[in-house]
Amino acid sequence: MNVSIIGAGYVGLVSAWGLTALGHRVSVGEADVGRVDRLKAGETPIFEEGLTELLSGASEKDLISYHSSNAEAVQGAKLVFLCLPTPEGADGRADLSYVESVVDELANAVEPDSVFVVKSTVPPGTAASLRKRLADVGSSARVVSHPEFLREGNAVFDFMNPDRIVIGAYEAEDADLVAGLYDGLETEFILTDVTSAEMIKYASNAYLATRLTMANTLANVCEAVGADVLDVLAGVRLDHRIGPHFLQPGPGYGGSCFPKDTAALITVAEDAGYDFELLRAVIEADDRQRHRIAEKVRQAAGGGLRGRRVAMWGVAFKAGTDDVRESPALRIARLLKEDGAEVVAYDPKASSDELTMSPSALDAVTGADALLVATEWPEFCRVDMVEVAARMKGHRVVDSRNLLDPAQVRAAGLDYWGLGRPGA
Ligand code: UDX
Repeated sequence: MNVSIIGAGYVGLVSAWGLTALGHRVSVGEADVGRVDRLKAGETPIFEEGLTELLSGASEKDLISYHSSNAEAVQGAKLVFLCLPTPEGADGRADLSYVESVVDELANAVEPDSVFVVKSTVPPGTAASLRKRLADVGSSARVVSHPEFLREGNAVFDFMNPDRIVIGAYEAEDADLVAGLYDGLETEFILTDVTSAEMIKYASNAYLATRLTMANTLANVCEAVGADVLDVLAGVRLDHRIGPHFLQPGPGYGGSCFPKDTAALITVAEDAGYDFELLRAVIEADDRQRHRIAEKVRQAAGGGLRGRRVAMWGVAFKAGTDDVRESPALRIARLLKEDGAEVVAYDPKASSDELTMSPSALDAVTGADALLVATEWPEFCRVDMVEVAARMKGHRVVDSRNLLDPAQVRAAGLDYWGLGRPGA
């Protein structure tokens, strides 16, 4: 099938490659001319394991093309995937301006009877309003909701091995057309109405955010009562009704999805007259988690941060990505800096202008009053802790991911403060 993808961001590029791998021909439309040039030259503007090679392979086979004109990109395509950003607006609502302006631009430029496939995360009711927008300008194009569930760092795998494929459509024929793209993939298909499909995405992210906030708050309770949260969760996750995933305590959630989607769902519910009290509590608890960790670092550095140097291992919002959007590490670093600390950071992939970046994990700890492990990169477990102890000025390690081996850290003569662990 000929598919057009509008938006060469994270979701757009992974979907573009994935669809070519399933045998389709894809033309990508992207407004940023520089980005289009880089893609044509075989460079990928995002870091995702294996993606650059996969996209180059698709280009070589002439299965993918890049265009700075959206109108050009949609020529000959029956399906037009909208992979545009829906950032958090000032009041927590999702900002739909990118999606709406592309639909306005392409309403009558697409092939007759083509289908706009909304991949962007949009509030329930958006597909219905886009449908009206198209009808108002006499467009014959239709709308399908088809949310994505790609995890950064695992997106290539997730595309080919989806837990489910969700398609919300007005016409069965449109749903079949989209479902047909995935012939050969073994997965569950959820075919539903557009609003329910939109809601599945928000419900999934809100549920996952709640679940990991539960793990974080359990860690805090364990810390208070003297239990070891890792043993507690090992016992909890074996209950088959609970299961093993998404229960790793940490500094709270970050990234491009959870913070904005949880905020947006609260406003969606509010606009419909429902107070989503539980989700509001999750967001507040998540925010407090970073303050709690900043407080631990303050204690670790001797009780005050003015003039202190804090080494931070990890800047990315999670391991396996260079993405720092809403990164808990950065948000904690800001709290530490507000209190007068100098934060010196190292990350294998990510970087930030807000911080003094070090070329290595060992370099970062030199002269540090305290060390904070903020992202769960496995390479931090391989750093020689004896050397860390020798280079640090202070002697306390705050491990906000429970990543390091406490025995090894202690054997090097350092204090180990994990999350919800004995001695934390
Ligand atoms: C998420 C959703 O999982 C994906 O389906 C959606 O489409 C996009 O948003 P992503 O943002 O890549 O994916 O991150 P994810 O792996 O879900 O992690 C989100 C946050 O939760 C990260 O900050 C991560 O560090 C944190 N997390 C996750 C934990 O602290 N503990 C866990 O056990 C799991």
